[in-house]
Amino acid sequence: MMLVLGIESSCDETAAALVCADRTILAQRIASQDEAHRPYGGVVPEIAARAHADRIAPLIAATLGDAGLTLDAVDAIAATAGPGLIGGVMVGLVTAKALAMATDRPLLAINHLEGHALSPRLADPDLAFPYLLLLASGGHCQLLLVEGVGRYRRLGTTIDDALGEAFDKTAKVLGLGYPGGPAVERLARQGDAGRVPLPRPLLGTAEPHFSFAGLKSAVLRAREAGIHADADIAAAFQQAAIDCVIDRTRRALALAGPVGALVVAGGVAANQALRGALEALAAAAQLRFVAPPLALCTDNAAMIAWAGLERIAVQGGPGAGDPLDVAARPRWPLDPAAAPVRGAGVKA
Ligand code: KG4
Ligand code: ZN
Repeated sequence: MMLVLGIESSCDETAAALVCADRTILAQRIASQDEAHRPYGGVVPEIAARAHADRIAPLIAATLGDAGLTLDAVDAIAATAGPGLIGGVMVGLVTAKALAMATDRPLLAINHLEGHALSPRLADPDLAFPYLLLLASGGHCQLLLVEGVGRYRRLGTTIDDALGEAFDKTAKVLGLGYPGGPAVERLARQGDAGRVPLPRPLLGTAEPHFSFAGLKSAVLRAREAGIHADADIAAAFQQAAIDCVIDRTRRALALAGPVGALVVAGGVAANQALRGALEALAAAAQLRFVAPPLALCTDNAAMIAWAGLERIAVQGGPGAGDPLDVAARPRWPLDPAAAPVRGAGVKA
């Protein structure tokens, strides 16, 4: 049975995984760089690239060791080729190229977003196309109609900050440390969202795009006013963000046409309040709600290996490979036909 080695290094996680075509994850390792970036309150690209370079080879060796295998057992090597922080992407992709060349196996240059888009099918064999995916992480906030392997329609995206980024910046304003999402969620449980009026940017607009920069600024002003408890600010921020996400997702569902499921992926999918709200939205629309296990929602290499396996299944074995000179791409939209969005300066 087909076995793929996946490699992920596009942000601050160095990861390797061995995944079989029958969805078995034989082994996976993730080295997080949270400690290295914590003093800066966010990911520093140069530090990330160096950390990936230090860790990636031993990490792959250890992953093979965990499975009791050598590279000989691997049928193809899949690596994230973008979008992401280019230094880190290059480390992973060049490593994959070297392994592909040394073993004479096909190289699969995977779009990181495609990894996220297809990972719910790794966890759930019953999840059929098409489905609507909310991808919400520290780097991305998109609504994607996943129609098939290689067939994605981007219905909405953020015009400024990603949702996880908004959580992280709110955490910074409240002095909660990095990564901030879980800390904001914990504090929000003790607060009253109704005590702090905050805006809901783009609510009710026709296209299901997101904007969180204004919300983040409002959080800063609310804190500086010095009259609100931090817990109330955290609760109000989280509620405003969730209201926006639900409104935008409802709009995307209306535009998507018939879908079988509403799926959430990305690190922010860990947020229980968000999950609950999405679940209710799906139930109201009589749709299945699918939230993969968190380990597959956050950045990982199993999803990259799986995207490689999905491609092989569609395009056929060795023919699915990419040339060894394939480029690392800092930006790589999943849906090249999607119209550029005003204000979308930095997000793929
Ligand atoms: O997918 P991920 O691990 O990495 C990428 O950004 O690609 O997502 C991390 C993001 C961070 O911004 C983090 O603050 C956020 O997900 N996050 C959360 C929660 N757990 C993680 N945001 C809100 N609530 C949470 N419980
Ligand atoms: Zn990601």
